[in-house]
Amino acid sequence: MDIEQAILQRQSIRAYEDRDVSNETIRAILDAARWTPSGVNTQPWQIEVVTGASKQRISDAILSAREQSPAKPDYDYYPAEWREPYKARRKACGLALYGALAIGREDKDKMIEATNNNFRFFDAPVGMFFFMDRDMGQGSWLDMGMLLQSVMLLAKSHGLDTCPQASLAENPDVVRQMLGVSEDKLLVCGLSMGYAQANAAVNQYRTERLSVDEFTHWHD
Ligand SMILES: Cc1cc2nc3c(=O)[nH]c(=O)nc-3n(C[C@H](O)[C@H](O)[C@H](O)COP(=O)(O)O)c2cc1C
Repeated sequence: MDIEQAILQRQSIRAYEDRDVSNETIRAILDAARWTPSGVNTQPWQIEVVTGASKQRISDAILSAREQSPAKPDYDYYPAEWREPYKARRKACGLALYGALAIGREDKDKMIEATNNNFRFFDAPVGMFFFMDRDMGQGSWLDMGMLLQSVMLLAKSHGLDTCPQASLAENPDVVRQMLGVSEDKLLVCGLSMGYAQANAAVNQYRTERLSVDEFTHWHD
């Protein structure tokens, strides 16, 4: 698969087949992803891969932690106050998801269930947690983003799909504790990976994008 096709075909997948991904495949993806660039080659990342019983344990632990206390992420992914145009884009994103799941405005229980599916890795066979050293600079966030995209595109090239999940980073303390990760590592993001359930309703919609001319200025 060429890079353009991988980029165009990647989409966030939220329902997966009950089909394992071999450790060799996961390793091959990470073995290529490690060539992601980073400022002065710092490679500030640490990835924790969870499958099988360990994935189940961490899923249970996150869900139970969320019942007991509010989420306490290591950083704010989103602004405290939403403004336009981001407010409208966020709303469209939510409406598309709930629309695909046929969840109505009033159906709070189903909304909670859809949210909680994040913490079950959408039943994907592979979960990943992306950590970086807490004392690194803001530039390292770029490196982490690039690593995530590398993993997602490489997954596509292996016939796999993914969903990057900031939600999986909302309860970093329990994740660190369960996986034996030290406090000096900051949890940036989680990710689900597996074979897409092609016909699942939740996988049927595509999000929109601005056209090139809406976000590019040319200076000849
Ligand atoms: C860093 C990051 C975190 C995200 N977190 C979540 C998440 O917690 N749950 C979720 O369902 N989707 C999550 N998404 C998926 C976005 O909603 C999705 O990328 C966006 O709507 C564009 O759709 P697409 O990925 O299908 O192209 C996240 C995406 C990124 C890049």
